[in-house]
Amino acid sequence: MILVTGAGGQLGSDLVEALVARHGADNVLATDLRIEPGSPVARSGARTASLDVTDAEALTTAVREHAPEAVYHLAGILSARGEQRPDLCWEVNIQGVRLVLELARIAGFRVFWPSSIAVFGPDTPRYDTPQATVTHPSTMYGITKVAGEMLAEYYARRWNVDVRSVRYPGIISWSAPPGGGTTDFAPEMFFEARRSSKYTCFVGPHTRLPMMYMPDAVKAALDLMDADASRLTVRTSYNLTAFSFSAEELAREVKARVPGFEIAYAPDYRQAIADTWPAVIDDSQARADWDWNPAFDVGAMADDMLAHLA
Ligand SMILES: NC(=O)c1ccc[n+]([C@@H]2O[C@H](COP(=O)([O-])OP(=O)(O)OC[C@H]3O[C@@H](n4cnc5c(N)ncnc54)[C@H](O)[C@@H]3O)[C@@H](O)[C@H]2O)c1
Repeated sequence: MILVTGAGGQLGSDLVEALVARHGADNVLATDLRIEPGSPVARSGARTASLDVTDAEALTTAVREHAPEAVYHLAGILSARGEQRPDLCWEVNIQGVRLVLELARIAGFRVFWPSSIAVFGPDTPRYDTPQATVTHPSTMYGITKVAGEMLAEYYARRWNVDVRSVRYPGIISWSAPPGGGTTDFAPEMFFEARRSSKYTCFVGPHTRLPMMYMPDAVKAALDLMDADASRLTVRTSYNLTAFSFSAEELAREVKARVPGFEIAYAPDYRQAIADTWPAVIDDSQARADWDWNPAFDVGAMADDMLAHLA
């Protein structure tokens, strides 16, 4: 059995489908606080259950009942929402990953847990951000991801827990709306281009961030989980990227495909978060250790997004 937490979110909506294709619908248990009827996860055919990852008893019972071979722990509170609810962000992100790792130690399952480029902060080199560098974040979300990375490495070294992680950049996808992150402007721009041909962007035109198209985000999770353990040199979390663009450059890509598309800029509190994150990430360690290689560039991503949203 493969157990997925936070499965109803942006990443889970696509990852569950891929896990079902691989392992069979009966062998995937997709859980979230609530699984919406008619949602991509509900339609995937996977078994579903409601599960709060801060509820130690419920998580322990799920592990005891289903004896998972692997847990994809996706439940979390993202960067922008985390600044509005830092208490909730701490509780869900810290409590969740600690419980999952502790159960992995006892029950022996493997863990995939995503970290984020939010582990970096204003003291981090913004261009070609190295794998090993300053992680000194300024958001509660970033703090929980740094702590999670440290815990993951601790459980791997001390208890031999097979936990694997990537620092996802902003993820762009069409099947589910983004869940309250600072890079949400990218998928939102496509949704609004199709809906109303205009978009007011919450970061300024020159804000440049690392990003990735969802099929590559799913591929990264599966490739890393397939990788030979002896090749993995990083047990905190791997830097990962596909491309970087500024908001203005993305708007140009959209305009080239949606004639008449209009963009305006009204930076809000998320600008301050974006300003502390890397612009371009060096993911050469992931490429060396488990042959990471994204399939989509910006143009192919934009074509595919707009085709699906048509
Ligand atoms: N989407 C991105 O751009 C991005 C980038 C970097 C890292 N990540 C990481 O990937 C993971 C998944 O992100 P996502 O984009 O799917 O986020 P999302 O917000 O779309 O989904 C997260 C899910 O977690 C669920 N959740 C919240 N509290 C919970 C709780 N107490 N118990 C169980 N479930 C709970 C939510 O209901 C939601 O469905 C997170 O760890 C996130 O930090 C995402």
